Amino acid sequence: MKLLIDDANIQAIRELYEFYPIDGVTTNPSILAKAGRPPFAVLREIRDFIGPEADLHVQAVAPTAEGMAEDARRITGELGEKTLVKIPCIPEGFKAMKALRELGVRTTGTAVYTPMQAFLAARCGAEYVAPYINRIDNMGFDGIAVAREIQDIFARNGMSASILAASFKNSQQVLELCKYGVGAATAAPDVIRALVKNPAIDAAVDAFVSDFEKLTGVRAMTDCE
Ligand code: G3P
Repeated sequence: MKLLIDDANIQAIRELYEFYPIDGVTTNPSILAKAGRPPFAVLREIRDFIGPEADLHVQAVAPTAEGMAEDARRITGELGEKTLVKIPCIPEGFKAMKALRELGVRTTGTAVYTPMQAFLAARCGAEYVAPYINRIDNMGFDGIAVAREIQDIFARNGMSASILAASFKNSQQVLELCKYGVGAATAAPDVIRALVKNPAIDAAVDAFVSDFEKLTGVRAMTDCE
């Protein structure tokens, strides 16, 4: 399962790339609004940092299929042809996905709340589909179960599309999808930082260092006799 950052803050992206096995970055219009700067300036900064081959998912905003296709042209023109264009899984979006498939543009079906949206997006050529795990949970349904159903539908129909699970609030949700082997998960910086946040882990590591210091007076192997 690939792990991506769902954010547009370049400092946070740099920090997480330093410490974690990160495969790319996803954004949406609300995330870009939070950044509060011209969207393509922010997105170019991200692309320059992660490199031309890394997965970068950027959402089309226009409400019609034709407008989405135009947005896709601008997105891939500015950010490179490897950039995945996120298209909402609504009828206009399906039409756009079919047109973009013909042009060889990579797409990610987004705003997925139901397995049927994911199935139709995959049929229309989406490379990824993005079920919103936590938002589904908040509606009183089971986001993990929806993602699993989508994974099963793809497998049983011989579809090559993958899941890019999005909208996480805790590490358990991410772990459940690791266990099921979905293609990718994208999470906000705080959720990624919390993946291994555990006082027991910190206590174990601290105890090793302090025991070694008691023995040698130093806190690193390179410094001891
Ligand atoms: O792009 C969709 C995803 O980022 C939603 O996440 O945390 O706003 O539910 P969230």
